[in-house]
Amino acid sequence: MWPENVGICAIEVVFPSQYVDQTELEQFDGASAGKYTIGLGQSKMGFCSDREDVASLCLTVVSRLIERNQIRPQDIGRLEVGTETIIDKSKSVKSVLMKLFADSGNTDIEGIDTTNACYGGTAALFNSVNWIESSSWDGRYALAVCADIAVYAKGAARPTGGAGAIAMLVGPNASLIFERGLRATHMEHVYDFYKPDLSSEYPTVDGKLSIQCYLSALDTCYQLYRKKFEKKYPDAAQVGLDNLDALIFHTPFCKLVQKSMARVVFNDFLLCKSTKRALKYPGLERFNDATLANTYFDRDVEKAFMIQFNDTFERKTRKSLLLANQVGNMYTPSVYSGLVSLLISNTPEELLGKRIGVFSYGSGLAASMYSILVTKDKQVFQQFVSKLDYVLPMLNTRKKIAPEVFSELMEVREKNNHAASYTPSGSVSALFPGTYYLKHVDDKYRRTYERTSVITNGVH
Ligand code: HMG
Repeated sequence: MWPENVGICAIEVVFPSQYVDQTELEQFDGASAGKYTIGLGQSKMGFCSDREDVASLCLTVVSRLIERNQIRPQDIGRLEVGTETIIDKSKSVKSVLMKLFADSGNTDIEGIDTTNACYGGTAALFNSVNWIESSSWDGRYALAVCADIAVYAKGAARPTGGAGAIAMLVGPNASLIFERGLRATHMEHVYDFYKPDLSSEYPTVDGKLSIQCYLSALDTCYQLYRKKFEKKYPDAAQVGLDNLDALIFHTPFCKLVQKSMARVVFNDFLLCKSTKRALKYPGLERFNDATLANTYFDRDVEKAFMIQFNDTFERKTRKSLLLANQVGNMYTPSVYSGLVSLLISNTPEELLGKRIGVFSYGSGLAASMYSILVTKDKQVFQQFVSKLDYVLPMLNTRKKIAPEVFSELMEVREKNNHAASYTPSGSVSALFPGTYYLKHVDDKYRRTYERTSVITNGVH
C-alpha cells in the first residue's frame, strides 16, 4: 500500500547575514533611480563573503533543521542536494553533508547531487517524494536540500543575485502534501543562462532570452497542469487559476513574478470559451486574437492583465515574495523561499486545507508546475509553521553593507575562486550563530569547515 499524504514535514531556510541595499546599489552602479527597486522589484540583496560556499550553506541548513525538529540522524534514509554552485566536478556536496551523520553511524543514506540551474532543488524534492512512494522506501524520512550562491559579473544582471539554502524533511502524513498525478513538466535545450566557464562563478546570460524562456515554459507547464487537473477532477466546478488558492514562482526578481501571474491569467483568458469570455474578462476583447508566441514582450497585453488582475496577484502571490524581495534570487531555493514566505505571512488558519500551485524554473531549461495541499489538521500545521518563528527576527538582524564593500568582497571571491591553498579573509563574527564557514582550503583543494557558536538568542 502507498504511504499516505507524502510531502514536506519540516522546512528550514538560511540566508546570508549581510545584504546590500538596492537603492544604494543603483547609485553605486550609475543605474537610473528606481531601476532595481521598481523596475526589478528588489529591495535588498543578500551575499556571502569568501567565508561561505555551497557546502557550508548546506551544512548550516541541514544541521539547523535536524536540531530544531529534533530529528534522529538514523531516521534519514535519503538525502538529495540540488545546486548549481559547483565547487568540485566529482565530489558531491551530499558527501560533505555525511559529516553530520558520522557520529550516529548512519551511512545508509541514498541520494547525491542534482544539477540544472535553479531546477535542481525541485529535482531533489521530486526524487525524495518518489523514493518514499516507491518499493525502495524503507520507512525513513528523506531530506531534500537546495542551496546556491547567485553572483553575476558587474553589469545589468548583478542586482539579480542573492544566496541561501533550504532543507525540507520529506515523509508521509506531511503538513504540505504533494498532490498525486498533478505534475506538469517542460524541458528543452536552450542557451539562455549557463555556466560554461568552469573557472568562474559567473554565468553567461542572455537576459532577454532568459525571460522569454521562463514565460514560455510557464505557459506550457500551466496549460499542461490545467489539462491534468481537469482529468483528475472532471467534476470540478471551477477551471484554471480559480482552483489554486496561492501560486508561487521561481523568483529571479519580483517584477517577473508579477508579470508571470498576469501571464497565467492571460492563458486562462485564451482558454476560456468565447461565449464566457466577455463576462469573465470584461474590456479585454481587443486581445481575443492574441497568441502566446507573439506576446512575450507585448507591453499592452502585459499591462492590461497586470492592472485588471492585480487583486489576484495580491491575494495569491504577493506574500510569497517576501524573502525574494529581501534576499534576492537564491537560485535552487528561490521557489521554496516563496513557500516559506507564504507560510510566515499568513495565519495557519488562512492556509489550512488550501491548494498551493508551484512553478519551478531552471535555465537551460527545465521547468515544472505542480501543487501542494496544506493539511487540514490544525494542530499539526500550527506546530509545523511555529518552527519558522525565527525567520523574520533573523531577517531583521542582518547587517547592511555599503555597495563599495560589497563590490570589494565580490572581487575577493572572484580572485580566489578555486584557489589552493587558501584561507578566506571574510569576517567570521559577521555570520549568524550556528553558521558553518570555510576555514581553509589546503594545497590538495581539501576544504575544512567550522561552525560559529550556537547561541539561542532568538535568532537561531
Ligand atoms: P536590463 O536589461 O538592464 O534591464 O536587465 P531593463 O532595461 O530591461 O530594465 C528592467 C526593468 O526596469 C524594465 O521593466 C525597465 O522598464 C525598468 P519592464 O519594462 O521590463 O517592465 N526600469 C525602471 N523602472 C523604474 N525606474 C527606473 C527604471 N529603469 C528601468 N528608473 C535583466 C534586466 C533581468 C535582463 C538582467 O538583470 C539579467 O540579465 N538578470 C539575470 C537573468 C534573469 O534573472 N533572468 C530571469 C529569467 S531566467 C531565470 O529565472 C533563471 C535564473 O534564475 C537562473 C537559473 O535558472 O539558475 C536566472
